[in-house]
Amino acid sequence: VKIFTGSSNPTLAQNICTYLGIPLGEVRINRFKSGEIYVHYEEGVRNCHVFLIQTMGAPVHENLMELLIMADAAHRASAKSVTAVVPYYPYARQEKKDAPREPITAKMVADIFKTVGVDRVVTVDLHAPAIQGFFNIPVDHLTALDYITEYLKEKDIKNPVVVSPDAGRAKMAEKLATYLDAPFAIMLKKRPSHNSAKITHIIGDVQGYTPIIIEDIIDTGGTIVSVVEGLMEKGANPAYICATHPLFSANALERLNHPGIHEVVVTDSIPFTPNSDKYKTIPIAPL
Ligand code: R5P
Repeated sequence: VKIFTGSSNPTLAQNICTYLGIPLGEVRINRFKSGEIYVHYEEGVRNCHVFLIQTMGAPVHENLMELLIMADAAHRASAKSVTAVVPYYPYARQEKKDAPREPITAKMVADIFKTVGVDRVVTVDLHAPAIQGFFNIPVDHLTALDYITEYLKEKDIKNPVVVSPDAGRAKMAEKLATYLDAPFAIMLKKRPSHNSAKITHIIGDVQGYTPIIIEDIIDTGGTIVSVVEGLMEKGANPAYICATHPLFSANALERLNHPGIHEVVVTDSIPFTPNSDKYKTIPIAPL
């Protein structure tokens, strides 16, 4: 087994190697002046099971292209197998057509993985679990929910209610509510545009409760802030926000500095620098 990392999250890759007691493999990744990427494995990979660790936070296309080129190089160097370990899978929010003349980009990326010689994919908390079916190779779909639950149990939050911000997250939220022995509420929303949300319904009792909102991704924070404001209007306490993937694009950190948010619990699937002690980052290397 040999493990290599792209540029997206070397700390996570090192943590995985330390956890496994395997040294991180040596690979050289350079850029031509034009921006094109060059990859060279500095050690042999012939007949090895090669694991490439690359998450897909910003800059997403740089990270994606690096991974594809690393997979191609490993495959052409006669690796026995190439596993793409992609904690945050890109384009997962475009997994179906919501309107005519749109792409299904999550499927397109899956096809490209296969083309460049990826034999297996390991990923965490996909936006839509059905994306597994876009691949004709094995996909290990892991979840950080157990780690998030463990952390929340230790906090012993008084009067909690687990809130699903939409129908898509309902299963995960219902599991969390069961693990925490807490009631459950669900919100329905409309999206006037990408990265913004308008809450239309809240089903379940939230008045006087402390919401624990469970999400897969926080991108700009627009959705979470709408959800929190909807809950505040109904008399809920400041909320705990839990999300596996902290994309934190644009001014997300400023947005999340909201009086309706008590704490933000994320994983280190994507690196970020917190701007306050409101943030708890759960390590996923053992996963
Ligand atoms: C979409 O349904 C996802 O689960 C997230 O709610 C969304 O992608 C978050 O994006 P943003 O933080 O920009 O609102």
